[in-house]
Amino acid sequence: MIGVFDSGFGGLTILKSFLEKLPQYDYVFLGDNARAPYGGRSFETVYQYTLQAVKKLFSFGCPLVILACNTASAKALRTIQQNDLENINPQNRVLGIIRPTAEVIGNYTKTQKIGILGTAGTVNSGSYILEIQKLYPEIKVFQQACPMLVPLVENGETNNPAADYFVEKYTSQLLKQCPEIDAIILGCTHYPLLIKTFKKILGEKITLIPQNEIVAESLKDYLSRHKEMDFRLTKKSTVRFLTTDDSKVFDERAAFFLGKNVKSETIEIF
Ligand code: DGL
Repeated sequence: MIGVFDSGFGGLTILKSFLEKLPQYDYVFLGDNARAPYGGRSFETVYQYTLQAVKKLFSFGCPLVILACNTASAKALRTIQQNDLENINPQNRVLGIIRPTAEVIGNYTKTQKIGILGTAGTVNSGSYILEIQKLYPEIKVFQQACPMLVPLVENGETNNPAADYFVEKYTSQLLKQCPEIDAIILGCTHYPLLIKTFKKILGEKITLIPQNEIVAESLKDYLSRHKEMDFRLTKKSTVRFLTTDDSKVFDERAAFFLGKNVKSETIEIF
């Protein structure tokens, strides 16, 4: 199975695209809802939580785990890949979502000025800036942390006027840094759950870069190049949902978002 991990509900936006573009595989989704949000937590905490989740997904039979979380990709991925994987299972793989997003960024901007909206953890890590500058030195990157957005999503308050208020506040802070930004990465997998609000506030002039579709295409490409991994993945089109918090709440929100019934199991990952 392919493991898909996020601190909470945000990773469902990535899972949804996997199910559309790669429906033949079996998936295990794990949301650490009990400990979300990760965005304001220290490097060490995000690393420890993510490592626990990765080990759990390996133990559930996932040789490949996607960190469907920008914060975990920014703060934990490299250490897990470079230090931990060898001791846990050198044949298994853990992939993140920042690099594949950065790889295609050049297709979305004419002004060569792009914006990143993300958690404080993602923004302060500088990961997007580093990755984009390696690949597109001509592109200027501006960032804005949006600490109130993940709590709104995790609490099911996406239609609350507070969501409009904070999306307006953070996007105008970003655009104040550079009014020529013509493309924005919603660099947190929770934010597409507020996509209507973003579109309403930003209008047509700014392209919202679809990270979920980009990541799904990138996984497809990875599996076509890594037959040894593809061979290890079962293909019966099933999805198993795991949460570290209340499964009833998870089922309701996940069903609403995915448009189908969801039956999750509550697990402990530490
Ligand atoms: N959805 C996550 C991300 O992409 C994490 C949000 C959080 O837990 O703060 O960054």
